[in-house]
Amino acid sequence: MIETIEKHRQDFDSRIRSTSTSEPLKQLRIDFLGKKGCVQALMKDLRQASPEEKRQLGKLINNFKQYVESQLEEKQGELGKSAHKPSQNDTFDTTLPGRRETTGTLHPITQVMEEITTIFMGLGFQVEEGPEIETDYYNFEALNIPKDHPARDMQDTFYVEGGTVLRTHTSPVQIHVMENREPPLRIIAPGKVYRCDSDVSHTPMFHQIEGLMVDKNVSFSHLKGVMSIFLQEVFGKETKVRFRPSFFPFTCPSAEVDIQCVICGGKGCRVCSQTGWLEILGCGMVDPAVLKCVNYDSEEWTGFAFGLGIERISMLKYGINDIRLFFENDLRFLKQF
Ligand code: DAH
Repeated sequence: MIETIEKHRQDFDSRIRSTSTSEPLKQLRIDFLGKKGCVQALMKDLRQASPEEKRQLGKLINNFKQYVESQLEEKQGELGKSAHKPSQNDTFDTTLPGRRETTGTLHPITQVMEEITTIFMGLGFQVEEGPEIETDYYNFEALNIPKDHPARDMQDTFYVEGGTVLRTHTSPVQIHVMENREPPLRIIAPGKVYRCDSDVSHTPMFHQIEGLMVDKNVSFSHLKGVMSIFLQEVFGKETKVRFRPSFFPFTCPSAEVDIQCVICGGKGCRVCSQTGWLEILGCGMVDPAVLKCVNYDSEEWTGFAFGLGIERISMLKYGINDIRLFFENDLRFLKQF
């Protein structure tokens, strides 16, 4: 028994010496003074001893118990002091980065929008914004969209009041910018747009980025170059890009730009309707009628414009098959980005 007490004391001494925080100190108290601790165990063993031994050993156990208590208290005092006073070797590193608050992540649409914006800023484009409620003039008229154009139908456009609409595209920002600035200019305009439409690939509100460059001698080859660089930045350097003739009232000539299907690599699949290509954006050379509307001399200045849907690009980039997932705010979806 005497040996056991001595062994416990050595064990206690070595443990308390190596203790420098309060957690292990608590554990030490439990291990030695707790209900199932070793002092209690010694007491239990004591029951089997003779009355003579009991007196002697009882004293030793009691001594040991008091020793443990006083040592624990002393250590506790030391730790309490050093917690308030950093030791000399323990200097504060002011170059350490701050702790980040975990408040969530940026929405995938915001992330893609920022990525695209950064690419165009690298090509010298400035970011512009415009109103989400537009007059008929900015949304349609100044963009050379005639009165009988199907886009003006109540089925496609949210009419507000007094001839105003929720903008159906970001193209009207072109007009605001050109009215207020002289060429040359290079701008992009990211933002929300609205259309009466709702299914797996359409929501009544979605996001577009509009682009416009006006300068001397801007040609279709500049447009091709800028679009190709941009799409290869987003979808990868090997991405094949093709231009198809198309029609938009505000550009002439106009084109739709396709990329080789990112799902099947061009072999043909359900996503690309077996064509091997995905339609990604609309673009063209700014129509002289539009330049005339903002009093730019179309003999002196030429330009190109383009417009793309952020949701569509995000869906293809991340393989998302239902546009509504973006707006349901389900954390299981959002946490993946
Ligand atoms: N505004 C068009 C749309 O919403 C997209 C677009 C096509 C914009 C061609 C352009 C352009 O600037 O040149 O469908």
